[in-house]
Amino acid sequence: MKILVVYNVVEPSEEERLFSEQEIVFVEQHIARALQEYGHLTVSVPIRNDLWTPLKQYDPNEWLIFNLCESFRNKTYLEPYIISVFEYLGFRYTGSDRRTLANCLNKARAKEILQAHGIPTAAFQVFTPLNVHQRRLEFPLFVKPVSEDASIGITMDSVVRDDRALRRQVRFIWEKYHEPALVEEFIDGREFNVTLLGNDSPRVLPLSEINFRHIRDPFARIVSYRAKWVPTSEEYLKTPPTCPARVSESLKRRIEDVARRAYQAMGLRDYGRVDIRVKDGIPYVLEVNPNADLAPDAGIARAARAAGMSYADLADEIVRLAAHRYRIKGMARPRIVTYELKARSAGSDGIYSIPAQALLPSVLRAEKVKRLRATSAVGVAA
Ligand SMILES: Nc1ncnc2c1ncn2[C@@H]1O[C@H](COP(=O)(O)OP(=O)(O)O)[C@@H](O)[C@H]1O
Ligand SMILES: [Mg+2]
Repeated sequence: MKILVVYNVVEPSEEERLFSEQEIVFVEQHIARALQEYGHLTVSVPIRNDLWTPLKQYDPNEWLIFNLCESFRNKTYLEPYIISVFEYLGFRYTGSDRRTLANCLNKARAKEILQAHGIPTAAFQVFTPLNVHQRRLEFPLFVKPVSEDASIGITMDSVVRDDRALRRQVRFIWEKYHEPALVEEFIDGREFNVTLLGNDSPRVLPLSEINFRHIRDPFARIVSYRAKWVPTSEEYLKTPPTCPARVSESLKRRIEDVARRAYQAMGLRDYGRVDIRVKDGIPYVLEVNPNADLAPDAGIARAARAAGMSYADLADEIVRLAAHRYRIKGMARPRIVTYELKARSAGSDGIYSIPAQALLPSVLRAEKVKRLRATSAVGVAA
């Protein structure tokens, strides 16, 4: 398949955004290499200040876009606009559409949609310095920018326990990020990143848990900006992920169910990640991330590895899912769809019963089966 790997180049400006978004150039190289491993022809298309010129040179009937753009002109809120241009030019692309990206970008709007679907999410209010006195929620609370991602604006000061701290933090968000603050009840509990792949019946990959064991204070158990992006920081070292997470079968099912419902309620396509914290056995959705980070060391690739998929398998599977959605001829079926069909014809709902093994590329699977047969044959002979 002919694939344009489209990514945004971040002009160095704000020191915070830099870490998270410069990653994209690096991800682009890994994705392009992974797709080439599967025999795809790739061309990398960096986006700077202009979207139209770099894209117009390609025929949308020939090329599929692998979308790695997270912002345009350094503005995260222009992410859906990028998609508008893809669509205007007639391109087909991997990942979620414009509406889903726009709805997820504003966390308050996303939470309203989740609530409307009966999906648990922490109680919240949106504040500016002008209306912060209208607080109804009980302390402790968690304060974050209403429309950022990648833990931007999240520090230990995000947890507030009185009105004074709340006012201070809302003002900080307002002055630094020029946007309202989303204020939520603090969910004191375990935190999971849940990766999903697919469209009609998305598959949940093995759960990943942030391991907070090394942090005593329950209110310090959060993934701050430093914990996410500064590998030498104490916060980073004290929040290692465990994948697959150690969870009881019943909690696992509950988390998977909430994540899958959130993925579908927000209309995600192909792949995504749902962040969840669990309190009193109830999984609460923190946020839904369409087009989430595809770096080889980030959550999605990690969960895919735990399911037996290499990085190249993951990249190729995302292309297969998009191609299947658009009914592009000549592309192999997504592995997920194949296994859903098999599981369904075996009488199950096609969701819970698919072993991780099933996602292994067929060559590897055949080898594994051969090996298994060989060992059992030895068993019989003995
Ligand atoms: N309501 C909450 N209660 C407790 N911790 C929270 C809450 N909301 C967010 N956090 C912490 O802040 C981190 C970042 O928040 P999140 O909503 O996932 O935003 P981002 O888009 O920056 O990842 C989470 O991973 C979690 O550790
Ligand atoms: Mg998050």
